[in-house]
Amino acid sequence: GVPALLIRLPVAVPGGLESAGRHYAAFSRICTHQGCIVSLNTNLEAIAVAFNYRSDLPQLTCPCHFSVFDPLQAGAAVSGPAVRPLRRVALELREGEIYAVGLERS
Ligand code: FES
Repeated sequence: GVPALLIRLPVAVPGGLESAGRHYAAFSRICTHQGCIVSLNTNLEAIAVAFNYRSDLPQLTCPCHFSVFDPLQAGAAVSGPAVRPLRRVALELREGEIYAVGLERS
């Protein structure tokens, strides 16, 4: 019942999962500020200009009040009014398939 997304990352992160040498993490898409839906934003210039956050990697961004969450920092709020991290989705590997098995924190 919680919208979430799974991201492939360049390195291992806390709470993430490794499968076949690839690193993954999953997060709730519910912004911890006021509940809008965050998205993976790959436009680094837009993140710098519109969200006032400079990064070399895609970030999870919220369009409502411009919060930015860093998937490489376990979903930490790194810019904007949000201060709490996105909830992480617990992942498990079963016979080579990745399953979401719950939310790790509130
Ligand atoms: Fe996401 Fe306000 S609801 S920044």
